[in-house]
Amino acid sequence: MADMKGQVALVTGGSRGIGRAICERLVGRGVKVAAGYSRNSDAAKELQDKHPDAGITIHQGNIGDVEDCTRVIDEVLEQHGRLDVLVNNAGITVDKTVRKMTADDWDRVIQVNLNGAFYLSSTALPHMLEQGNGRIINISSVIGEKGSVGQANYSSAKAGLLGLTMSMALETAKKGITVNAVAPGYIETDMFSDVPDKIQEQIVDTIPTGRLGKPDEVARVVEFLADPESSYITGSVFDVNGGLFMSS
Ligand SMILES: NC(=O)c1ccc[n+]([C@@H]2O[C@H](COP(=O)([O-])OP(=O)(O)OC[C@H]3O[C@@H](n4cnc5c(N)ncnc54)[C@H](OP(=O)(O)O)[C@@H]3O)[C@@H](O)[C@H]2O)c1
Repeated sequence: MADMKGQVALVTGGSRGIGRAICERLVGRGVKVAAGYSRNSDAAKELQDKHPDAGITIHQGNIGDVEDCTRVIDEVLEQHGRLDVLVNNAGITVDKTVRKMTADDWDRVIQVNLNGAFYLSSTALPHMLEQGNGRIINISSVIGEKGSVGQANYSSAKAGLLGLTMSMALETAKKGITVNAVAPGYIETDMFSDVPDKIQEQIVDTIPTGRLGKPDEVARVVEFLADPESSYITGSVFDVNGGLFMSS
């Protein structure tokens, strides 16, 4: 593993769940972390307070809003002076079958989960190109690879992230920038706790490993991709799903 001290990473949705585990992994590597959040400032401050000497900054903003995305990138550059790693992690669900899904339900999820990643990546890109290095890591989902009842909006956004990943990887491959995706299966976070208990049990029964994943099991793959030595990996999708893709 190469030295990452002095590098700066923006992790959207860094205050909770998978994003928080990613922040903690990167802090452990000496990276200056800028953690994004949308509404829950207590969780973001709690991350900061837990690592008082790590120089973590927290940034409020709705990633579904292009102006918030520009402001957050500006804040990170002002406060840290550079941006080496962008982890497009923040995401939401609004689950309904297509029959019941409104255009607003569709738009909200696409706006945050897919358009947000585009807004941030396209704003961060000129700085990474100027630096001659960068890592963009998009948190997709197994649901973007195989679909899911009641999640057409989420599945489409997460599949769209794979297209964004591959296209940006091709566009930046000769510029010292890598763009990859991580596709988690079901992970123990607030997002999964929102699923009704009975459906949670049915889901766990379908996972070959017989258990949910832990946020850190996703974060360690992100850490690996963010490492300067991972420079020959681009346009790839890393599954972290306990074998779920094979079983269904
Ligand atoms: N958990 C799973 O089973 C699972 C599986 C596959 C993929 N994923 C993906 O992994 C990512 C993280 O999921 P998670 O389970 O850790 O989620 P989570 O526990 O619900 O946390 C979501 C994080 O995203 C932030 N966020 C939500 N909407 C936002 C917005 N509009 N703008 C900016 N930040 C926003 C939240 O900030 P606030 O706290 O301020 O609201 C929070 O920090 C998501 O992209 C999700 O789709 C999760």
